[in-house]
Amino acid sequence: MTTRIIATGASVPEQIITNDDIAKVVETSDEWITQRTGIKQRHISAGENTSHFAIETAKKLIERANVNPEDIELIIVASVTPDYGTPSLGCMVQKAIGASKAVAFDITAACSGFMFALSVADKYIQTGVYSNAIVIGAETLSKIVDWSDRTTCVLFGDGAGGAYVEKSEKEGIIKEEIGSKGEIYEILTQGYTPCANAFNDNESGVDPLWYVNMNGREVFKFATKSVVKSIDRVMENAGVTQEDIKYIVPHQANIRIVDVISNKLKIPKEKFYMNMDRFGNTSSASVPMALNELNEKGLIERGDKIILTGFGGGMTWGTMLITW
Ligand code: COA
Repeated sequence: MTTRIIATGASVPEQIITNDDIAKVVETSDEWITQRTGIKQRHISAGENTSHFAIETAKKLIERANVNPEDIELIIVASVTPDYGTPSLGCMVQKAIGASKAVAFDITAACSGFMFALSVADKYIQTGVYSNAIVIGAETLSKIVDWSDRTTCVLFGDGAGGAYVEKSEKEGIIKEEIGSKGEIYEILTQGYTPCANAFNDNESGVDPLWYVNMNGREVFKFATKSVVKSIDRVMENAGVTQEDIKYIVPHQANIRIVDVISNKLKIPKEKFYMNMDRFGNTSSASVPMALNELNEKGLIERGDKIILTGFGGGMTWGTMLITW
């Protein structure tokens, strides 16, 4: 018995912001951004919040999997940019699609969020607690980047992606691992809220650490090391080689990170599915958005083996080998 992806879906804002558009806001250029990141444009919210994209994705999943919302048992949304501290995006999705019998919650593992959420859903299904789940990664990163900081604002985009998964007798998720390295959490942070109250001297207001703060070079090093090791381990534990793998769907952070991973693992770059040129880094939405595109384009067939892999703040990583 496995957990199998039955349907995928995604939703992005209509508004497209090109590198030239960003060059009007901060001192940068299309050439710099393209060479250093591979990103040409990103979709940026014109006011819709994260729940909008999560809900649109969930509606697509319900329709494509042809399931009754009343039969959905579990909803997990991964996000670092929820609309509220509470309620969770999961509960907002539950209401919007009418999944009244589901249990719904959010998890946070930054850009590895979808991998963590899918791993959790898989465990609930493997242990027989639930038999199906909607798993979504959704972000409006545009609301948490400092639009005066050229070292970060050029990297990110908004959107959501997800999968409807079910208990199945056919092959689905074969092997997976998720991991954390909290000791280096300071190299990538966002959303710091100082402890200000009526009984201490701390000032309230937006702390500069509210915005994305990143040591780009350290994150680059962490990403390449952790993902290479993780893919290697998962393939070895599953007894498969790169010849068995049709596609690797990596977190869409930076084309140069993928270049390094491809070189170190000696896996041809053509096997890495990339769409960061059009969407930028959408954090927890990036892997499911890319997977959905791969699926919509008909580039994968049932029975193909693919690897999903992500890394992000925490620091965290997650890799999954699945039979499509
Ligand atoms: N436009 C133009 N110049 C820029 C710039 C921009 N948007 N951002 C930075 N620069 C400048 C810097 O100020 C620096 O100038 P200096 O040499 O005069 O000091 C120069 O470009 C090089 O900066 P550096 O930070 O060393 O560039 P880099 O090659 O490391 O690339 C990143 C920066 C962020 C693209 C790269 O480190 C990276 O991709 N890291 C991983 C980030 C990531 O994936 N984060 C998401 C994790 S989920």
